[in-house]
Amino acid sequence: MSRPKLYFDILTLFPNFFHSPLRTSLVSKAIKNKLIHVTVHDIRQFGIGTHKQVDDRPFGGGPGMVLKPDVLELALKNVLAQGRTRGLRVKPKVILLDPTGASFNQEKAEVFSKKRWFILICGHYEGVDERFKDLFVDEQISIGDYVLSGGETAALVVIEGVSRLLPGFVGEAESTLSESFTEVKLNGKVSRLLDYPVYTRPEGFKGRQAPKILLSGNHGAIENWRMEKRVEKTRKIRPDLLQRSKSRDR
Ligand SMILES: C[S@@+](CC[C@H](N)C(=O)[O-])C[C@H]1O[C@@H](n2cnc3c(N)ncnc32)[C@H](O)[C@@H]1O
Repeated sequence: MSRPKLYFDILTLFPNFFHSPLRTSLVSKAIKNKLIHVTVHDIRQFGIGTHKQVDDRPFGGGPGMVLKPDVLELALKNVLAQGRTRGLRVKPKVILLDPTGASFNQEKAEVFSKKRWFILICGHYEGVDERFKDLFVDEQISIGDYVLSGGETAALVVIEGVSRLLPGFVGEAESTLSESFTEVKLNGKVSRLLDYPVYTRPEGFKGRQAPKILLSGNHGAIENWRMEKRVEKTRKIRPDLLQRSKSRDR
């Protein structure tokens, strides 16, 4: 039997958070089809003392609680040991979801989709003791310039964003090769553009007609129209993407 292409181990204080998302939609299908393997681990299991303490007050004062480095180390080592018993011989990529990390985007998802094993650590409260980050985390990842209460939503974003790039995750009819943010060649450069607008039946809707060209059957003209729309939309909404275009012979 073939082994999953990607393994995700999630470390969280709220394992129940993942129940529904991992049992729904294409992610659950990918798990059932053994394209990806996801295991959720409860950090509290590794808490200290009878109260299973996982956090403590920040040195220097201030609001909130900080996740303890010793607890996270125990939790991480347990996941590493479990991985070995599953036969995973590669070094995992240890990711901490953190608003101060590098931005998660399509390029990052493409790089990650070529790896094999991820350990995703979800922070909470004020965050994670800096020494744990320095010693054990390979990369900190942010899903956007805003602050969430915990890393769980961010972990799901990473799992779905990466997994859907694996062959077989989406049906053939829904290829991921031509979507927003995937690379396209444009005037000798490689750009990541927004997707073109799409229409379906009815042809007329509340006085608005679907563009005639899309009903013409002329595939070349349709392709050109779609590319024009991609550029137009990107220039209007995300000009930064065009500025980041790279020369083809990089
Ligand atoms: C309330 S936040 C901590 C925020 C931190 N004190 C700061 O201001 O940067 C708690 C946890 O939520 C997660 N989190 C919040 N926003 C995030 C984001 N934009 N991307 C990824 N993880 C995020 C992280 O795991 C973080 O440790």
